[in-house]
Amino acid sequence: RIVYVNGDYLPEGEAKISIFDRGFLMADGVYEVTTVIDGKLIDFDGHFLRLERSLGELGIENPMARDEWLDVHRQLVAQNDVGHGMVYLQVTRGAPGDRDFIFPDPETTKPTVVLFSQANPALIDSPKAKKGIKVITIDDIRWGRRDIKTVQLLYPSMGKMMALKAGCDDAWMVQDGEVTEGTSNNAYIIKGGRIITRALSNDILHGITRAAVLRFARESQMPVEERSFTVEEAMQADEAFVTSASTFVMPVVEIDGAKLGAGTPGPLATRLREIYIEESR
Ligand code: PDD
Repeated sequence: RIVYVNGDYLPEGEAKISIFDRGFLMADGVYEVTTVIDGKLIDFDGHFLRLERSLGELGIENPMARDEWLDVHRQLVAQNDVGHGMVYLQVTRGAPGDRDFIFPDPETTKPTVVLFSQANPALIDSPKAKKGIKVITIDDIRWGRRDIKTVQLLYPSMGKMMALKAGCDDAWMVQDGEVTEGTSNNAYIIKGGRIITRALSNDILHGITRAAVLRFARESQMPVEERSFTVEEAMQADEAFVTSASTFVMPVVEIDGAKLGAGTPGPLATRLREIYIEESR
């Protein structure tokens, strides 16, 4: 696979970054994941704008203009012949010569930029989407700026492992009794035909897929309520689902052992998945 590192396209085995990179030492960096369907980037501008926002919140200068970012994404899709899959990008504050808590001078230390593609032929015909996923709930002990898409993914990764250990697929994180989001996705329930999802704030990532799905839902006359919901309310919902660039709309069929409806993907979640794929491709 050909990857991109700081201006160069290289075979993945030849790509190198410094051991002093602050992304590596301090998780001082941000990332984006953009889906590719049939070789086409989905919602590139949404991801680019969120990248700019994440970088701005951390005071890291965006090292490239929109069109340069787009060009690197397209080059990687073309050079690696990606049909379905994604492009991952990461920007860190760079690699000063030493480890130091103080941010380096941006005049001398430039951000590190890494991009790579990952193919996933089963992206659309996902066996998981046909069965639906089971989630457990765990305490949300992450930091308070989850709106910034940082590379601090240890707790979400541990949450996913806790779910697998419990025979489930993923974890929903809970703060003050209310669901914030999934380990790597936004969380929704459906009750009486109404789609309910937590409102945007610093508590959750402002999902690009979330924005698209809520727009499609409203256009299809499905009522949407942007508000918090408790675990109890979720367990009594008719349906549930999660959204992310890598899973689109993924039906949830069980929460902490409680089956939702028949324990199979619900009709509205299934319809929203179809609409999302139809509208995006
Ligand atoms: N994760 N919430 C969290 C915590 C996430 O990590 C993600 C995305 C989302 C959904 O955002 P979007 O719809 O823009 O992908 C919500 C990516 C896909 C990942 O870490 O792989």
